[in-house]
Parts: sequence; C-alpha cells; structure tokens
Amino acid sequence: MSNNHTVDDEKRAAAEAALEYVKPGMRLGLGTGSTAEHFVRALAPRVKAGLKLIAVATSERTATLAQELGIAVSDLNMVRHLDLTVDGADEIGPGLTVIKGGGGALLREKIVAFASKRMVVIADGAKLVDTLGRFPLPVEIARFGWHVTMERVAEAAARCGCSQNLMRLRGGEAHPFATDGGNYIADCAAESIPDPERLARSLEAIPGVVGHGLFIGMASIALIGKPAGVTTLELPHH
Ligand code: A5P
Repeated sequence: MSNNHTVDDEKRAAAEAALEYVKPGMRLGLGTGSTAEHFVRALAPRVKAGLKLIAVATSERTATLAQELGIAVSDLNMVRHLDLTVDGADEIGPGLTVIKGGGGALLREKIVAFASKRMVVIADGAKLVDTLGRFPLPVEIARFGWHVTMERVAEAAARCGCSQNLMRLRGGEAHPFATDGGNYIADCAAESIPDPERLARSLEAIPGVVGHGLFIGMASIALIGKPAGVTTLELPHH
C-alpha cells in the first residue's frame, strides 16, 4: 500500500484478502457495514464470471447491495447451514473476541455467524485493541420497557467491572433507530470490558435484551488491513 493510504484502503484490502477463503459451491454469509460492503463488491465480479455460491445476507442493506450487483440472496431458513461468513467488526480484542453492531445489524449478524462453520472478520488496523470497550457496546433491546432494560444493562456493565456504563438510546428518544427486526439499540459506553464472557452472560439474562454485540468464540480468522499489507490472525485449533 502507498504512504498516503486511507482507512478505506485498509478495509478494502482486508475485504479482498477474504476472497481467498471463498470456494465454489459454498454457502456464504455476507456481513454488514462498509468493510463487508467492500467484500460484496469484490465478490460480485467473481459471481458474474461464473462462481457458484449460495449467499445469505445479515441485513436488508447488504441483501439489496448484493442483488444490485448480481449476487442472488437466499433465505437462511432455506439454506440452514453456512460454510463461511465474512463480516466486519467494530473492535477486535484478544482471542478474536469481537464487538459488532455499529451498523445496527448485530442480531442478524450473530444468527448468521452462528449458523456458519467459520467466521472470517475483516477490518482496518484501528479496530485491533488490547481490551474491548472503547467502542460503545451495541445492545439490541425490545421497545417495550426499553428504559428499564437500559438500566438493567448499565447495572450489568457495572457489576462486570466495566470502567464506565453510560447508556445512550441510538438515534435519541425522539427518533430512536429501529433495527431490521424493529427493536431499539442501546449503546453502552463501557470504556473497558475486563471480562467480556461474564458481561455477555449477564446481558443474556436480562429479558428485554434481544441480542448484544459481543461475539465470543465465533470468529476464527481476522484479516486486518494495515499500511504494510494485510495481517492474518488465526485462532489455533478452531
Ligand atoms: C454492523 O452492524 C457492524 O457489526 C459492522 O460489521 C461493524 O460496524 C463494522 O463496520 P465497518 O466495516 O463499516 O467499520
């Protein structure tokens, strides 16, 4: 990469590197966000050239883009098991524990990743962190009683040793952001999450929480775009 490379160049390079993991006949999950969009754009010419795939999208936005580019999108209920999902990340911490959901697609992203044998994360270099939490953790919550659920989320973050637990309803109270599933998103500025597994379990125990952006034990490979090229991080024996 040149000296005046941009974050977007890093995202594109990581996305293009992920093409190597795509094999003919695969059932493939397509992620959401600007890096995943680069991946879909890089994949399209291959499909046009005859690469056969069955694709499932993690958001309406990605489904629309894929279809516009000539990639047919199938329903997860029909496909059921995927070979690979390629998706972006907001933060990548030790052990390839990931925060996702900056684009609001966390629930579908997690359902699709969970249905996949393998998840490859693609990201720019700034996403790599020693401790998760600087990026506010997206938590998808039911509309009913959202305020109460947000309080429970803040309490869980405090209990789990996060250095902060500032909650914000995405979009604001007057115009809350709605996910593809019609839920709200509460972003939890935790600053640092010392024990992501514990926080994940605590969040999953709150009835109004529909999903959260901690992806633990799901990604096995991360492709990180850096000024010097793409670095591959791989978990042993995954
Ligand atoms: C979408 O909900 C997210 O999980 C994205 O994958 C994440 O926000 C990364 O987005 P960018 O690739 O745009 O940085």
